[in-house]
Parts: sequence; structure tokens; C-alpha cells
Amino acid sequence: MTIIAELQALLGEAHVLEPSAGLERYTRDWSREIVGQPLAVVRPADTAEVAAVLRLCHERGVPVVAQGGNTGLVHGAIPSSDGRELVVSLERMNRVRAIDRVNFSLVAEAGCILQSVNDAAEAEDRFFPLSLGARGSCQIGGTISTNAGGINVLRWGMMRELVLGLEVVLPDGRIWNGLRQLRKDNTGYDLKQLFIGAEGTLGIVTAAALKLFPRPTQIETCLLAVPSAEAAMTLFAAARRDLSDLLSAFELLLRPCIDIVLRQQPAIHEPLATQAPAYVLLEASASGFVELRPLLERFLEQSMSAGLVLDGVVAESKAQSAALWRIREDLVEAQYQEAPRHLRTDISVPLSALPAFIAAADKALGEAMPGVQSLAYGHVGDGNVHYNVMPAPGTPEGEVADLMKQCETLLYALARKFEGSISAEHGIGRSKRTAFLDQLPAIDLMLMRMIKAGLDPDDLMAKSRLL
Ligand code: LAC
Ligand code: ZN
Repeated sequence: MTIIAELQALLGEAHVLEPSAGLERYTRDWSREIVGQPLAVVRPADTAEVAAVLRLCHERGVPVVAQGGNTGLVHGAIPSSDGRELVVSLERMNRVRAIDRVNFSLVAEAGCILQSVNDAAEAEDRFFPLSLGARGSCQIGGTISTNAGGINVLRWGMMRELVLGLEVVLPDGRIWNGLRQLRKDNTGYDLKQLFIGAEGTLGIVTAAALKLFPRPTQIETCLLAVPSAEAAMTLFAAARRDLSDLLSAFELLLRPCIDIVLRQQPAIHEPLATQAPAYVLLEASASGFVELRPLLERFLEQSMSAGLVLDGVVAESKAQSAALWRIREDLVEAQYQEAPRHLRTDISVPLSALPAFIAAADKALGEAMPGVQSLAYGHVGDGNVHYNVMPAPGTPEGEVADLMKQCETLLYALARKFEGSISAEHGIGRSKRTAFLDQLPAIDLMLMRMIKAGLDPDDLMAKSRLL
């Protein structure tokens, strides 16, 4: 029997899709930068079916890549181009299994769309804080496997901090049930941590118990014009203190980011009367009896008289808040529209070093790569800046990839100099693998390889990603 026939016997023909069936959406991600060629795509209905698939693949030596919503930014979930890798799509496993209001927790299957988990929590007057631009299509399993970040990390943490327990199918098909919903549990190694951020290299996450929080009933969003990145960081520290740690998002956008969104998205208009070198999109939120608006107004008055804020607008409605967020979220798309091939980075440095990092990057690029345009923005409350680079207009197409590679090398060297990370939130996948391995200390590599060899000795899971 062929492997396809065996998979069909396990899952039913309808859920084993062969390449002839037009699998395009499983072969690329939203960026369309690379295209893979899967052996087939299977769509298991439950954990037992995932286990059966992995058991079979283990016996037959078939490499496997798990796939969620295909919104990753480092090509980790795209099948290899040799037609040998089986895609396991978790999309049918999309049930919220349980919500516990008193325990402030929820159990969701891996294929749940993030937005549906946010909504399920809200329907029970609870809050699941993970929020990112791809929330309408990314899946919980992917956000766990990549330890996703996004805009609310500074208050509630990355996905790692939001997971109480996991259910995982191991590479040989055994099921590890670690779906505990405890806040405190000091019994041995914290095994779930191994699978969070492992990018599918150690097994397939099939379900997760997630932390919930009180649902914010007051949310204030404002866009502020600031004189510099340095002022933005001073403002950040002041905001944490003066807003009583109710700050939930603090995004920096340097002026070129606003320009590119205005150029590419005609529905978006100049947001403030004053044009400034930098902007901050700030959100604070609260539940309970705190009066957030007066707190925010006092903070803004103070910040304006201190010269940290030049101008600003506070959203007066949900629609206005959404319009402010659109400027930030449409930025990703606008960069593709302007230059389909550009450099995306995802660097973090200590918060205090962030303005100096941006200045050093501007200087180094200006000297070495005249004409390129940098776009620096990001979650600076986490020390995380997307310092992206667009090729100079008119750069011959054949030269762009090489030019962007040189910019990347330069920026990664700077990240290192500033004791930062080359991947704050997007992960390694395939696109950062070489850069990651180049800078990984030997002892780190040894420990990581021991873990990988212990769990996946045949190297069948997400082969050639990460390690
Ligand atoms: C963002 C993605 C690129 O922050 O991480 O927009
Ligand atoms: Zn980001």
C-alpha cells in the first residue's frame, strides 16, 4: 500500500489532499516569497488522528511539517520543495473545548483561529490578551509553536507566558497529555516549555490550556507625535509609572512608516496636524473601578509640558481607535505593495539601548548602502524593533536579494553588538537558520541538539528548520 493509501485508510479520502487537488494555499504563506511542494496534505479531525498519522510517518520515515494559518514570517511551515514532506494541517481541530471562568482559563484546540479564542473569552466576560495583525487567520497551535508576541506583550507577555498546559503528539505518535490548568506546579521539568517556540521540530501541539484575564471595560487609544525615538522611550517609562502599569500597548513608528502607509493606502489620511520625526501608538486598558480617562489626560498634559509629546489624538470611539490601529497594521501590507522584496527584521535590544541601536543602524546603512530606505517601527515597550529595509527605487531586480542580505548581515552584527536578539518574536524557521546557527554558542547548540535527538531521533519533524 502506498503511504497515501494508508493515510486515506486512517483519515478518509476527503481529508488526504493530493498535489493534483490544487493545494496552493498549503504551499506558500501570505508573503509568497517561496513556494513548497508537499507530498500531500492531511487534515486530521482530532488528536487520535494526528497520533495515527505521526505513528505511520515514523514507521515509514516520512518527514512532516505541521501547518496552522500560514501567517508566519520566516517560512517555517511551508513544505520543502522536493515533494517529500507531508503537511499536517490542524485547521479542522478548531473547537474551544472548555472555559473555566473561576480558574480564568480556557482549553482550545490547535486549529482555533486566534480571533475566535479572543471572542470566546470575551463572551464569558474574560480576556485572552494575545493580539497581532494576523489574528483573523493565525491559529493557536502556530502561535504556541512560534511563541508569538504582538502588541500586548509588554503587559501580558508572549504566548509562553499565556500557556498553562499543552497536549502534544510526539514524533513517534505517542500523545503527551500535559493539559493541566494549574497556576503553580513545581513537579519536575516544565515539559510544556520545550514545545513552546519549538517551531514544530519536537512534535505537534494539538491543544492548549490558556490563561485568561479580566475583560478590560475601559480602553483608551491615542496616537502621539514625539520628537525622537529617544523621547519615545522616556515617554514609555513615564507611561508605565503614571498609568499605574495599565499600559497595554506602546508602538513606535518613525515618520517614514507613516509616509509609506499614506502612499499605499489611500483610505488612510494624515493623522495629526503636526508632522513629527516619530509617533507612538499607545493603549491603556482597565477593568473594575479605576477611572482610566482622567489618568490618561493627566499623563498627556504632563508629557506635553515636558516636551515629550508634540501633538496627539485620543480616540473617542471604538471606530476611531480601530482607525488608529489600521495605520500600524496596514504598514506590513504597505511594505509589500511598495517593494515585494525587502528586508524584514525582528530585532530586540534592551529598552534603554533602543534609540542608540536605531541611530547606529541608520548611520551604518547610510554609509554602506546609500539610497536604501529604512522603516523602523515596532513593539518598543518590549525593546523589539522591526528595522526593515526597502531597496532604493530603480535597483535592478537581480541585485535586490544580494543587497538585502548585506543589509541583514550589517543589522545582525549591530544587534549582537548591542547584546540583542536577531529574532525577538518571529522565530527562526528557514529564513533565519543560517544567521541563527552562525551566532549560536557551541554549548547552546549541543543542548538544543540533545533535546532534538532525544525527541525526534530520525529528524522527521520540521526538518531543516531552526536547527
Ligand atoms: C508586526 C509584525 C511584522 O509587528 O511582527 O507588524
Ligand atoms: Zn511585530
